Amino acid sequence: AANERESMYLVNEYAKEYFKKIMLETNQGQAIGLSYFKERGFTAETIEKFDLGYSPDEWEAFTKTALDKGYQLEFLDKTGLTIVKEAEGDKPKRTFDRFKGRVMFPIHSMSGRVLGFGGRILTSDKKAAKYLNSPESEVYHKSKVLYGIYHAKQAIAKEDNCYLVEGYTDVIQFYQSGIENTVASSGTALTPEQIRLINRLTKNITVLFDGDTAGMRASLRGIDLILEQGLNVRICTFPDGEDPDSFAKSNTEEDLKEYLTENAQDFIRFKASLLVAEAKDDPVKKAGLIRDMVASIAKIPDTIKQEVYVKECSAIMDISEVVLFSTLAQLNAKES
Ligand code: CTP
Ligand code: MN
Ligand code: MN
Ligand code: MN
Ligand code: MN
Repeated sequence: AANERESMYLVNEYAKEYFKKIMLETNQGQAIGLSYFKERGFTAETIEKFDLGYSPDEWEAFTKTALDKGYQLEFLDKTGLTIVKEAEGDKPKRTFDRFKGRVMFPIHSMSGRVLGFGGRILTSDKKAAKYLNSPESEVYHKSKVLYGIYHAKQAIAKEDNCYLVEGYTDVIQFYQSGIENTVASSGTALTPEQIRLINRLTKNITVLFDGDTAGMRASLRGIDLILEQGLNVRICTFPDGEDPDSFAKSNTEEDLKEYLTENAQDFIRFKASLLVAEAKDDPVKKAGLIRDMVASIAKIPDTIKQEVYVKECSAIMDISEVVLFSTLAQLNAKES
């Protein structure tokens, strides 16, 4: 299976170059793909850096060209770049380009190999998914990749901090704004494998949520996984309707950096304040939220840190330290 993976990487690499060439060197590519990225504020340099491209709006333009070049259908199929419909009755076998008519974001591994792609639709067709991603395969495991890690790794180590965002364009816009230590979970719930990738480079993560808050409560759960690995977590939210991309696009580099410095706050403190605001004067609700809070603290491996947080939460949530410590002791006992 090692040479199979190698063949898949080669197909992905070829596809990356193909989509770039189509975007930069054909009329359709320039008029549709390139102008889309320009509209989003990406410079030619940024587009080149992230190997952005365009997949022609034709049924099998990519597949045919790749086959002509000698790439095998088996690997076009296995990487998911081509969708193969086997012959059925009197219908012959057919092939389709998965990413027809989309702008392309190659997804690189830590070492720079192309694992797969995200493709964004350009029309506002409500039935079609906004983003389409490569299917799970021998080389692409959605739960184990972080978009942008290849371009961010040096800056993450140097800054000793990693910004974690939701989307492809958040990573790219931040990079262009001089914040190169940014990676995206690509819209999925964060996994332990993804956190481990960051853990190799830094112990500090700053999580940036989209301003829509829809998924925020759900995302807060995922953060316990980060605490479990002993990382320090900070949170920064954006104004309603903004995400890191849109905010970075409409602000100067200086204002963006200032915003992040002023608004990033420690996760445990952030969560405690949020829960207090939510529970208001409802004692039953408050009890549940306190348990939720202590559950997060229990995930922190360092017991000295646990103690510091218990004291802070006691003040923020207006509940005695004794109660918090005994709840924590129960949870700690369960964990071990
Ligand atoms: N996503 C996905 N499939 C979708 C929607 C989203 O895989 N149908 C992933 C993409 O990786 C996307 C991320 O979730 O980048 C965040 O989603 P969202 O905030 O909706 O998209 P944006 O990244 O803000 O995309 P854009 O600015 O292009 O609209
Ligand atoms: Mn594998
Ligand atoms: Mn979102
Ligand atoms: Mn977004
Ligand atoms: Mn966006």
